[in-house]
Amino acid sequence: MATDSYGRRIDYLRISLTDRCNLRCVYCMPKEGVPWRDHAEILSFEEIERFAAIAVEEGISKIRLTGGEPLVRRGVVDHIRRLKAMTGLEEIALTTNGILLGKYAEQLARAGLTRVNISLDSLDPKVFSRITRGGRLSEVLVGIEAALAAGMGPVKLNTVVIRALNQDLLAFARLTLNRPLHVRFIEYMPVGRTHGVGCGVSQTDWSKANFVSAEEILERLSKEGTAAGLGEPRPLESEQAPGGWGPARYYKFPQAEGTVCVISPLSHHFCGQCNRLRLTADGRLRPCLFADEEIDVKSVLRSGNDEELRRLIGIALQSKPENHGMRLGTGRGMSQIGG
Ligand code: 5AD
Ligand code: SF4
Repeated sequence: MATDSYGRRIDYLRISLTDRCNLRCVYCMPKEGVPWRDHAEILSFEEIERFAAIAVEEGISKIRLTGGEPLVRRGVVDHIRRLKAMTGLEEIALTTNGILLGKYAEQLARAGLTRVNISLDSLDPKVFSRITRGGRLSEVLVGIEAALAAGMGPVKLNTVVIRALNQDLLAFARLTLNRPLHVRFIEYMPVGRTHGVGCGVSQTDWSKANFVSAEEILERLSKEGTAAGLGEPRPLESEQAPGGWGPARYYKFPQAEGTVCVISPLSHHFCGQCNRLRLTADGRLRPCLFADEEIDVKSVLRSGNDEELRRLIGIALQSKPENHGMRLGTGRGMSQIGG
C-alpha cells in the first residue's frame, strides 16, 4: 500500500497517452493549438506498461487513461488489453472527448474497458462547436450511444461549468432520466498558463467571474428541475451511486435512471482525500495537478533499472503537497498534463 507524507492512500494513477487532441476547447488550448511533442519525447506503450507494472507493485490498483485525447493514439485498444491483463490492477478507465467513441467503443469493450468518462460541455450543437472550436456534437452523441450499446458502464459525462458559456444544465439532467448516464458537473479550475491571472486572453479565461460553484450548480438544478416538472435532485448514499475513484457527490432526479453529480475541487477542499498521481505523456510523474513539480521518469525508463523507478515513485508520493493552496494557473495546460 502506498501512502504519502500526509497519510493519504495513493492507489490511483492517471496516465496521459498523448498531448494531441482532435478538438481545441477554448479553456484548454489556445486557438493556434500547442506545439505537439515529437514522438520520441512521448513514452512508448511498452514504457508505459513497464512503468504501470511497477506502480501496481507499489500500490496502484486503478488506472485512468487520458490525453489530450487518448483515442487519437494508434494502438490504444491493444494497449488497454495488455494493461487489463496486468496482475494486481483492479480497474482501468478512459477519459475521452467522445469524438472517436463511435468508431472504437465496441473494440474497447472487447478489450475489457467498461468505465468511460466522456467530456461534453454543451448539448447545443452551436455552443458545442464554439467551445470546441469546430467540433461536431453529433459525433459525441453517437459515441455515447456506442458506449452504451457496447455494454460499457458506468458511462459518465464530464461537464465543466463556465459562466460565460451560459450552459443549459437542465438539458444534461434530462439525459439522465431514461438512460443509465451519469452527468458530472465540474467546477472550472485555474489550470494552464492563460488561466488564473485574469489576463483576458479569451472570454472563458479562468476568473472568479467565470467560476460557478457546486452549490450554485445544485441550486440551479433544483430550481430549473422543479419548474420543468422533473422535481428536485436528491443526494444519493454512496452505495446507490455509480462507483467512482474521486470525491464526487451524486444526486438523482425522482424516477431518473442515471444520476447528476458535482465535483468541487475549489469550493470544497477535497485535497485531504486525494488518492492520485499523474504520468504525463512525455514521461513525467506529477504529484499534484496544481503544483508544477514534475519528476522525470522517462530518462530512467530509457536507461535505468526498476529499483530507480520505484525510488522515483517514492519521491513523487513524498512530494505530494497537502493541498492546492488555491493556486491560480499552472505552467502547462490540461492537454499537456493530462485531464
Ligand atoms: N477545469 C475543469 N475541468 C477541466 N478540464 C479541462 N480543463 C479544465 C479546467 N480548467 C476537463 C475536461 C475534461 C477533463 C479531462 O478535464 O473538460 O472533461
Ligand atoms: Fe481536447 Fe479535452 Fe482539451 Fe478539449 S479539453 S481540447 S477535448 S484535451
